[in-house]
Amino acid sequence: MRYRMIAAVAAVLTGVFALSSFTPGSSPQPQEWKGTNLKVLPKDITQEEIKQVMDDFKVALGVKCGFCHAQSETDPKKLDFASDANPRKGAARWMMKMTQRINKKHFKRPDEKTGELTQITCITCHNGKEHPATVTR
Ligand code: HEC
Ligand code: HEC
Repeated sequence: MRYRMIAAVAAVLTGVFALSSFTPGSSPQPQEWKGTNLKVLPKDITQEEIKQVMDDFKVALGVKCGFCHAQSETDPKKLDFASDANPRKGAARWMMKMTQRINKKHFKRPDEKTGELTQITCITCHNGKEHPATVTR
């Protein structure tokens, strides 16, 4: 059960990352929501898609949105998602790029049986924790 969920999360995350190299032939539909400070995710990512990515981050690290996102300066009850004031957001960007690089370099061969691309995601290392665990003996 848990395994199925992880597999689904992995598929979604790699699917969205793959969008960065996808150029549509026809002009895209105008969107209501638009990210204003995206440096790693595709600039034309939809609200649906970014919500999925962010939910996956939350599950992968076992945290809430405020772990990476800073409080709004005007309304402390809200988060300012575009702000870079929380250093963990920077750490997460570094992690996203690292994960993409590892996949590009080492996991580009489709599975012989299923034909699916096996790739690592945040949860591969984090497994629901802020800091990936190390085995101590
Ligand atoms: C592990 C850290 C992390 C967590 C947890 C996280 N985010 Fe993010 N979020 C990021 C990073 C990094 C970016 C910027 C991505 C980029 O530069 O392409 C971002 C960007 C965003 C943006 C786009 C802002 C803009 O306009 O540029 C939204 C909206 C957002 N996050 C919402 C959320 C929500 C809602 C949650 C909780 C469900 C959440 N995030 C949890 C790291 C995180
Ligand atoms: C190859 C293993 C690996 C993968 C994949 C990975 N991480 Fe990490 N991550 C780590 C390690 C190890 C640390 C601790 C680094 C340190 O403390 O210097 C870490 C630390 C972090 C931190 C900082 C936590 C803190 O307490 O400040 C964030 C945020 C983070 N990772 C987000 C992500 C996100 C988001 C993804 C997926 C896009 C991801 N990581 C994928 C291994 C990984």
